[in-house]
Amino acid sequence: MGKIVYSALQPSGQLTIGNYLGSIRNFKGLQDQYECFFNVADLHSITVPQEPKLLRERTLDLMAIFLASGLEPDKSTLFVQSHVPQHAELSWVLSCMSYMGQLNRMTQFKEKSQKSEENLNAGLFTYPVLMAADILLYQTDLVPVGVDQKQHLELARDLAERFNNKYSDTFVVPEGIIGKETGKIMSLKNPEKKMSKSDEDVNSFILLLDDEETIKRKIKKSVTDSLGNFDYNDEQKGLKNLINMYIAFSGKTSDEIVAKYKTENYSVFKEDLVQLIADSLKPLRDNYKEFISDKAYLEKVMKEGADKASYYATKTLRKVYKKVGFLPR
Ligand code: AMP
Ligand code: TRP
Repeated sequence: MGKIVYSALQPSGQLTIGNYLGSIRNFKGLQDQYECFFNVADLHSITVPQEPKLLRERTLDLMAIFLASGLEPDKSTLFVQSHVPQHAELSWVLSCMSYMGQLNRMTQFKEKSQKSEENLNAGLFTYPVLMAADILLYQTDLVPVGVDQKQHLELARDLAERFNNKYSDTFVVPEGIIGKETGKIMSLKNPEKKMSKSDEDVNSFILLLDDEETIKRKIKKSVTDSLGNFDYNDEQKGLKNLINMYIAFSGKTSDEIVAKYKTENYSVFKEDLVQLIADSLKPLRDNYKEFISDKAYLEKVMKEGADKASYYATKTLRKVYKKVGFLPR
């Protein structure tokens, strides 16, 4: 087998174009080159409160978005995390090898725990261990994610090495694939902050399924600067973020874009960007509508995906249990 790719998203809300550019969009190109596993991380999502009915809907939604973005069940294994119990099982073994100190340094945990002090559950703390289990279970070589997952990926590497050193070679040590311009799309209202669907200001993010009017409104209101010169640099963070979106959707370089809009007002650039985003996302929106209305097909994809994933997951977990010293039944 060639190289293995694994990635996942949580079904914890509607996706933003940050999620799309940082992760999903890169999946399609990978499925033609590698053995790919793409997963709906429902176990991860309950680290924050979820309404059961909504969670079910969002799980199906994410599956439909995977398919709408061009992922094909014949090429990629598409499945739901809770359908393969080995994720939770390996997570337990790895958690017994994880240091509290290292988990305590996870910046996402620190941020999330500040936000939800009344719901500081143990799952939120051990969440990166579950993510390591996801990755290591499939002997993954490559993990396409956004910048915010870098530290979690580092933990997965550490755990793989720690286990290999202690019990002999068992896990592949994975590497990340993180986009230079798209690894961290920033908030439209505050370019110091990551674009996030949980932001209370709805104008700070564009949802994958937003229509053109909504995209227009949000881009129009997006923060740039009062300098007025069209450049791509770190002093003009708001503009740089918009240019990064333009780069991602057009395939043009920052130099080409700067040359094109150098003598224009920001508003001209913004109008073109709206059109570019809306046109690029339209096929995805149309495909999504078709897939989400065919529940029988979604269920078939999920079931076949889970069967295939289980095969690989069982193989790895068996090895792990044996090395740790658990008796076979
Ligand atoms: P999540 O919604 O937290 O499950 O994130 C799913 C994927 O989207 C992960 O690979 C994240 O790193 C990525 N992601 C989330 N927000 C952004 C963003 N603003 N820019 C780029 N990638 C992002
Ligand atoms: N923790 C990731 C996020 O919130 C989602 C995720 C779970 C993931 N398991 C993974 C990403 C394994 C990559 C590989 O975005």
